[in-house]
Amino acid sequence: MHSVDATTEQMIRSVLAYAENRLRLDPVPLDEGSRDPAELDAALGGLLGDQPHPPDQVLGVYASAVAPAVISADSPRFLGFIPAAPTKASLLFDMVISCASIQGISWLEAAGAIHAENQVLRLIADRAGLPQSAGGCFVSGGSAANLSALVVAREVAKRKAGPAVVDSTGGGRRWRAAVSTETHSSIVNTLRILEMDPLTVHAADHRMTGAALQAAIEADGDPSSVAAVVATSGTTNAGIIDDLAGIAAVSRELGAWFHVDGAYGGAGLFAPSIRHAYDGIEHADSFVVDPHKWLFAPFDCAALIYRDPAVARSVHRQDASYLDVIHSGPVGWNPTDYAYHLTRRARGLPLWFSLAVHGVRAYTEAIETAIGLARRAADEIGTRDYLELIREPGLGVVLFRRRGWAPAQYTEWADRLLHDQVAFIPPTAWEGETVARFAFLHPHTSMDLVREILDLMR
Ligand SMILES: Cc1ncc(COP(=O)(O)O)c(C=O)c1O
Repeated sequence: MHSVDATTEQMIRSVLAYAENRLRLDPVPLDEGSRDPAELDAALGGLLGDQPHPPDQVLGVYASAVAPAVISADSPRFLGFIPAAPTKASLLFDMVISCASIQGISWLEAAGAIHAENQVLRLIADRAGLPQSAGGCFVSGGSAANLSALVVAREVAKRKAGPAVVDSTGGGRRWRAAVSTETHSSIVNTLRILEMDPLTVHAADHRMTGAALQAAIEADGDPSSVAAVVATSGTTNAGIIDDLAGIAAVSRELGAWFHVDGAYGGAGLFAPSIRHAYDGIEHADSFVVDPHKWLFAPFDCAALIYRDPAVARSVHRQDASYLDVIHSGPVGWNPTDYAYHLTRRARGLPLWFSLAVHGVRAYTEAIETAIGLARRAADEIGTRDYLELIREPGLGVVLFRRRGWAPAQYTEWADRLLHDQVAFIPPTAWEGETVARFAFLHPHTSMDLVREILDLMR
């Protein structure tokens, strides 16, 4: 299994040829995700037993049965949820990272990889206006990053409060985080995992403001239990950026940790046309952006940056006799110290490679393309009397309704579009109503496709 024999040679040729063909797809076809498990069983059954199989046979099963049963998130026709559009450079370099088995835990093991990753984190931190001392690590996604950041926030609050703080029942205090009604589901999960409660800020027009946060705090009986305030810089459903400057000021006054979830929209920091909407992000204690979303990196990659990484390190660092050696070096930037992980792949490197190859300006242009497409799609919707724009687009998201449609009609329309391989565009809900939603991200999604999709709603 570990030597380079004839089977390995054949496998290298076949797998690389497959990867080459996949990389050369332009555009990437949509394919279909859902399959009858019995059908998949019939195709895959019997492969996992004691006996070996020729690699080409197994690769053939992957190519004929597995791959086509996965909707390609990197297709320009994938317009649901938050899509992906990794650059070819980043995909290629992801293969290099995998082949090199880079263990990205510690400076001792992987100084080169970590230094390159940290340069990417620095680039993002600069765009956010965070201080030179800021830093962090790459984790698997926004969910992991939000959890890691709020673990630190809760710990900081506990330390400030001291050991004597107990609740009215005599138990340990239950900490809270101020969140908005639009906060991502991963934050809700994080709070449950951390045994924290939300202080939900009901923000007018789905955008949390400093004033709304202030009002919620004034109306609250126990503001000192608020350990963190979570703002979103680009809500998933509508692309709305909270009032970061106002929220930062109220958080500071309250003495709470200010976390900005930019998993989706944080990449907009690279787009001059909307940079002003992020003003205030420079005050964040922690900030998350997912390069596997709008910074065109492969899955799975989230950048987690702390204003004061030393605090995060004091919370996340793992100590054990066999780990002493990674903590005793002269530099000691260990990505493992900044989130709840130990072993990690150097998942920031594909982004590093692609940024270096293409230059940051190409990223700016690609992000602006999606923003421009959202505006043009909104204009197009405005010209059609059977459609109604729900709100001006935020980032690359456009919410709109087909006048007179019931939820089942949206589902039928979306199913047909997927079946006919036109687009993947599942409906969403807005204020309790089923509506349609474009999520633009891929720079090759065309206005012709947008018009075709809208025509099919007549
Ligand atoms: C605002 C926001 N936060 C967090 C997440 C979770 O990120 P991930 O899916 O990478 O865990 C998402 C995902 O869409 C998101 O849009």
